[in-house]
Amino acid sequence: MTRLKRYIVLAVIVMLIAVFSAEVPAVITGQCSDCHTMHNSQNGVAMVSYVFGSETTSAKDYLLVGTCLGCHAQGGSSMVANINGNPTPQVYHIDATGDLAGGNFAYILGTKGSGASDAKGHNVIDFGKTEDTLTSPPGHHDPDGIGVNITCAGLTGCHGARKSGSGIYGSHHRNVDGKLTTADQPYNSYRFLPGVKGLEDADWEKTKSVSDHNEYYGANTPMTYSGNCNICHNPQGIITSNNTMSGFCGTCHRNFHVTDAIGGTSSPFTRHPTDIILPGGGEYAGYNGGGNPYSLVARVARTTVPDVPGDTVYPGTDVVMCLSCHAAHATDYPDMMRWNYKSTTLSTAISGCNVCHTSKN
Ligand code: HEC
Ligand code: HEC
Ligand code: HEC
Ligand code: HEC
Ligand code: HEC
Ligand code: HEC
Repeated sequence: MTRLKRYIVLAVIVMLIAVFSAEVPAVITGQCSDCHTMHNSQNGVAMVSYVFGSETTSAKDYLLVGTCLGCHAQGGSSMVANINGNPTPQVYHIDATGDLAGGNFAYILGTKGSGASDAKGHNVIDFGKTEDTLTSPPGHHDPDGIGVNITCAGLTGCHGARKSGSGIYGSHHRNVDGKLTTADQPYNSYRFLPGVKGLEDADWEKTKSVSDHNEYYGANTPMTYSGNCNICHNPQGIITSNNTMSGFCGTCHRNFHVTDAIGGTSSPFTRHPTDIILPGGGEYAGYNGGGNPYSLVARVARTTVPDVPGDTVYPGTDVVMCLSCHAAHATDYPDMMRWNYKSTTLSTAISGCNVCHTSKN
């Protein structure tokens, strides 16, 4: 190899290292003792230390040093915290620079943002704050008994298998990152949401841009109910049968998603559609201005999960989804919206709507 060739090879290696170290990897690699304790005792002191609020330091399932919220809701000043050196995504924090993709439960409790409010998100009961207004998931069929007290994981949760018992356990170590198109188990589904396909951003969107974000899977038609229980009920628990993010939301908010309740699959609709293709013509052709750059506010889903995040939206191909308007955990706005739809300033109130409805401003 000539000296010049060696320099080129070296330069390429340095560049590759720079590219791949830009994001935090999302696989478990640390020492067992980072996250597990064999007896929950060392020098007579409890080793369980990652707990939330009034949770106790008693020994936990699977010999873990913490609970879901203890590890993922530390309330600190960083969106991604450390469990003994292992990067851990935070769903409850006061980081002023932003939030991860799901949003931040701190807006409900008022430790971040414009003040506490139930309407800002999902009142996950593990946080100890009960819902004051709602008594069941809006849009849900009765009497399914899901009630209002949803949890992180388990029978009435979102992550992991939605059946009694196991929940999420077994998923962390087998976690498949990146492009998820199998989605027949929690560990190979998008963010452990059983059945959901997508492309996971490696740092959970700690850093995000028009070309650095999660990608969501969408369909070109929503689910049809017509008495078909199997669109949600599966031997493995409650699972969306169409593998989309909107179908997942629809497992609890059925009437906001299924064709029977939204007025079919074409205009006029009776409820805002999801898993419907953005028409290629008319106002939708101008999505987010010239060149149709991806909007981090009014996001779209893709009918094919891409290999890398796309910086462009394709009217005629891409679809509207629940997460075009809502976040999944909580935001600082009423109804968990991605922007202040209730603002008295018109331009603010419609700012997300008119990314797609470009002739309505
Ligand atoms: C960064 C944190 C972390 C580290 C490091 C870690 N684990 Fe775990 N482990 C977890 C979590 C969280 C769970 C429970 C949830 C789950 O299973 O998804 C778990 C569950 C388990 C389980 C039961 C469920 C399953 O997946 O089989 C076993 C066994 C286990 N770990 C063994 C180990 C061993 C052995 C090591 C070291 C080689 C280790 N863990 C390192 C976080 C960790
Ligand atoms: C001992 C600490 C610990 C506990 C307890 C724990 N986790 Fe995690 N969790 C981690 C770490 C570390 C990661 C990041 C590594 C990874 O993505 O696999 C993670 C990742 C995740 C992710 C993101 C997976 C992805 O696709 O990136 C979800 C969702 C999650 N955990 C949910 C939960 C839920 C729900 C519980 C409770 C049932 C829980 N975790 C309990 C440490 C923990
Ligand atoms: C496991 C069932 C379940 C799933 C899945 C689910 N939700 Fe909910 N949702 C609820 C319940 C229960 C409530 C009412 C209590 C509350 O606000 O926490 C609710 C409330 C809401 C609210 C109103 C918040 C308020 O307090 O006014 C919005 C908006 C919402 N969900 C959107 C979504 C979206 C978007 C998804 C998919 C990313 C989704 N939901 C998935 C159960 C679920
Ligand atoms: C849109 C999704 C969806 C459809 C369609 C659906 N279910 Fe459910 N079902 C759920 C959810 C979510 C739960 C709540 C699980 C929980 O609370 O743990 C549930 C719970 C139940 C339960 C347990 C009742 C209880 O009190 O917890 C029964 C029984 C049930 N469904 C029967 C049916 C039957 C029969 C059909 C068809 C006629 C049907 N479901 C259609 C989503 C659905
Ligand atoms: C076009 C934007 C948009 C889309 C897409 C959308 N929503 Fe909403 N959602 C809203 C707005 C705005 C509200 C406030 C209430 C209203 O205007 O009807 C709301 C309210 C809600 C509520 C609270 C209802 C109540 O009674 O308090 C739930 C639950 C909800 N949405 C769930 C969903 C689910 C699930 C999906 C996907 C199937 C979805 N939304 C798709 C904009 C949207
Ligand atoms: C991600 C893109 C997107 C966003 C954001 C969005 N919409 Fe839509 N909207 C659509 C699509 C696509 C349709 C269905 C168009 C069709 O098939 O004719 C639709 C349909 C509608 C309809 C029904 C039209 C009919 O013909 O029945 C109304 C009304 C509407 N949207 C209002 C809103 C409002 C208000 C907001 C903001 C809260 C909003 N939309 C945000 C894409 C979007």
